[in-house]
Amino acid sequence: MADKQVEYEALSLLEEHEENKNSGRSARTSRVEGKGSTLTGLALLVFLFLDILLLLVIIKLILAVKSSTSNANSFGFRNPYIGLDKLYGTGLINTSIHGKIINEPSLATQVSSTDVNKVFPVDLHQWLSDFGRLSPPDRRFYVSKDVHTVVQFNVLDYGMENCSISVRLPSRGDQLPHPYTLPRHASTVRLAYCELESEQPLKERTLSWNRRPACSQKRGVIDALVGGEIELKPFECKSGSYLSYLVSCADESSECNLDVWTNHDQTWGLFLNQYQTV
Ligand SMILES: *[C@@H]1O[C@H](CO)[C@@H](O)[C@H](O)[C@H]1NC(C)=O
Ligand SMILES: *[C@@H]1O[C@H](CO)[C@@H](O)[C@H](O)[C@H]1NC(C)=O
Repeated sequence: MADKQVEYEALSLLEEHEENKNSGRSARTSRVEGKGSTLTGLALLVFLFLDILLLLVIIKLILAVKSSTSNANSFGFRNPYIGLDKLYGTGLINTSIHGKIINEPSLATQVSSTDVNKVFPVDLHQWLSDFGRLSPPDRRFYVSKDVHTVVQFNVLDYGMENCSISVRLPSRGDQLPHPYTLPRHASTVRLAYCELESEQPLKERTLSWNRRPACSQKRGVIDALVGGEIELKPFECKSGSYLSYLVSCADESSECNLDVWTNHDQTWGLFLNQYQTV
């Protein structure tokens, strides 16, 4: 009987011991789990922080790209004539002979010294064809007492880097596709011109007297001849460059009043002759 009692007590002790052991283990694991969850939280926080940081960096990059494309015009013009300098530099190649080419302005617009914010109409001869709106390559050359003409040329052709400014006027009574104005009596019109500080394409839609580029160089006068072409002294013009000029009346007499249009077939007003240099 007593044996049984002892045996029972021993069993319950053993059970108690086992229980204690188990509860101890679970406490330990819960402590470890607690530590794990704070670690995960910390990691999440770090991730969140990195995410926000990365987002800011990306936003900054996008803004930088946007601002750099908005003045994409400031990039230089890539030379598309790769290797030609080297080729002709060897002196082993005979070049073919080219006559002069006529370079008409890529932009021609007017500014008024008396209406300083006026932007002159763009693309006046645009017309509606069966296929949609067409813009003919017409360029206006118009100078009077207070109207000045801004012209810009894009010099492109390789080896044609000898340029000279020319002015050509129709004769009185010529039949031209667009109305034109010549001085009533004088046979020449004295024009003044200066080179504008502009190595980039000008924006026709915003160009006014107040927003015109500054003159970098006074270039002198041209005595334009009614019914003839006057060509000035040639100068070097680099392929891939822009040349811009402001043309006005040299003296503001009423005889200075010129308005002619270059069109698809005929060149009137101011343009560039380009001669071969290779
Ligand atoms: C270049 O032209 C000269 C003179 O016309 C001629 O003698 C020479 O053979 C030519 N060279 C080449 C590579 O065609
Ligand atoms: C430019 O071309 C003109 C006309 O052909 C010529 O008289 C002049 O010598 C040339 N100038 C240069 C630098 O090549």
